[in-house]
Amino acid sequence: MVSSKKTKKEIKTLTDLPGVGPATASKLIEAGYSTIEAIAVATPQELSAAAGIPLTTAQRIIKAARDALNIRFKTALELKKERLAAKRITTGSKNLDDLLGGGIETKMITEFFGEFGTGKTQICHQLAVNVQLPVEKGGLSTGDNIAKAVYIDTEGTFRWERIEAMAKRWGLDPDKVMENILYIRAINSDHQMAIVDELFNIVPKENIKLVIVDSITGHFRAEYPGRENLAMRQQKLNRHLHQLARLAEIYDLAVVITNQVMARPDVFYGDPTQPVGGHVLYHAPGVRVQLRKSRGNKRIARIVDAPHLPEGETVFVITDYGIADPED
Ligand code: GTP
Ligand code: MG
Repeated sequence: MVSSKKTKKEIKTLTDLPGVGPATASKLIEAGYSTIEAIAVATPQELSAAAGIPLTTAQRIIKAARDALNIRFKTALELKKERLAAKRITTGSKNLDDLLGGGIETKMITEFFGEFGTGKTQICHQLAVNVQLPVEKGGLSTGDNIAKAVYIDTEGTFRWERIEAMAKRWGLDPDKVMENILYIRAINSDHQMAIVDELFNIVPKENIKLVIVDSITGHFRAEYPGRENLAMRQQKLNRHLHQLARLAEIYDLAVVITNQVMARPDVFYGDPTQPVGGHVLYHAPGVRVQLRKSRGNKRIARIVDAPHLPEGETVFVITDYGIADPED
């Protein structure tokens, strides 16, 4: 522990990494690897190609960056302490928070999947507001250090009017809340992936505690349709998810993604809630929450295969002021 802390202090800028002189550093920065974190999550191949350095040098640089960031074996006790110290963002619904074990957790990906109109986008809006609340109110802001959100919108369904309404609900200044939501429209899947890569450079400079991708799959489905493109689509999505998981882990932030799926009323055998095209995100780590419509503004949420959470269902509502409980 002591020695790793020492290393952490020593390696602050790129030129502190072994084998990185000013020339290599500027090549790396030019190629988009401006922080130790960005290098730590790169593969030797991409780093070597991007900065024009030998593969072995790239490997050595990446290893040093990972050591500096303490990416190493942990004891089970350390894991336990980390879990208990995990931070959470309230969804605005006590029911939904309880289902999630207290809210949306940092250091992991939470996926909301369901049919159109089940509330995925509304939950994203609500979380972008709620993350800004002080810790004791269910957000991740501490003192004057406001926790910010990044909103990657792939479908053009972001509405600032909803943010305004949801901010007023908590008595927050809507304009200030909007100032702390960094919005970007992703125009295609490559752009979407490039944005996440770029976040490794942006997040260290801002107090970003939540990254939203609404939706994660839309562009990929449109650009890689059909069975014949499935392998390529999955390969790209896997890389994208891997980057998001890394971002969550390294910067202790929450990643929330949405995934529109269609139920299959035609299925008589097996699970009719299995989405068409299969669960593209099946192998990504984190928590998966299935949303279904119920009567009126009621929605049913169900946890699907989260190893650390009990299985269960709950009901929440979508109101003018956001995500809430039926009895509110
Ligand atoms: P897709 O993106 O199409 O897959 O759907 P989604 O799951 O993202 O659904 P979304 O979050 O957009 O939820 C839509 C639901 O929220 C609809 O049932 C709307 O009635 C409800 N909703 C949206 N805006 C408001 C609002 O201002 N007031 C209220 N009361 N409900 C709203
Ligand atoms: Mg939506």
